[in-house]
Amino acid sequence: MRSWLMSSIGKKQVVAVSGLLLILFLIAHLAGNLLIYRGPEAINIYSHTLHSFGLFIRLAEFGLAAIFLIHIAFTAMVVIDNKKARPIGYIGGQPYKERSLATRLMPYTGTILLIYVITHLFDFTLANSNGPGAFVNGQNLGLYGLIVNAFANPYEVLWYVVAMAAVGFHLVHAIQSVCQTFGLNHPVVTPVLKKISFVLGVLISVSFASIPIYVWLFISTAH
Ligand code: HEM
Repeated sequence: MRSWLMSSIGKKQVVAVSGLLLILFLIAHLAGNLLIYRGPEAINIYSHTLHSFGLFIRLAEFGLAAIFLIHIAFTAMVVIDNKKARPIGYIGGQPYKERSLATRLMPYTGTILLIYVITHLFDFTLANSNGPGAFVNGQNLGLYGLIVNAFANPYEVLWYVVAMAAVGFHLVHAIQSVCQTFGLNHPVVTPVLKKISFVLGVLISVSFASIPIYVWLFISTAH
């Protein structure tokens, strides 16, 4: 087990599996967030239902944080291994110019995502959904109020849109990369997987980005 974990392929498989679990989280998270389009009640009930699971949801959050940290740590190890093996700018045996834009941007989109997740937790998870930040026009709107007030600020909207673009680029490369790590390399299947990866990445990213833009344009009265 230890020798598998420390082998080059073992580390890549850990990155792939943890990445896949994070993608599943993102899809579930997106489905929940899209309830914003159904109004305050829908998203607040969704959030209350999640939190009513108490200890179970705490354990899930702990698991998610662990997966996130494992993904980052093992990605760093793979990058270091690659640098040691090929010190002149080759990764995975492919010259720099031949790698797609999404692949070349992976270190940057990954770093943006890390910063984004930390700031994002302060925006909503760690914010008080019954405090002053939840009030809209003198009414306590709970989590919905927090979201509306956050996206009343155009700089916050811009930051979210940039971060969601990073999510998109990261996913476009990630999904096809997971398949490759598990040996799905086939002249017919690989191009199809690349297309699926592209469509999923763009769809998830655009759907997430639509939320701050929609709230800023149509819900917030601050501008
Ligand atoms: C427009 C995009 C997004 C919006 C509006 C949004 C909104 C939210 C809200 C409202 C919560 C708190 C839920 C609650 O306490 O009931 C939350 C939690 C969270 N979000 Fe997002 N989110 C977005 C995108 C993302 C993305 C792209 C990621 C990951 C890269 C992410 C990661 C998380 C995590 C890790 C939590 C904490 C989960 C938990 O504690 O249960 N979010 N988000």
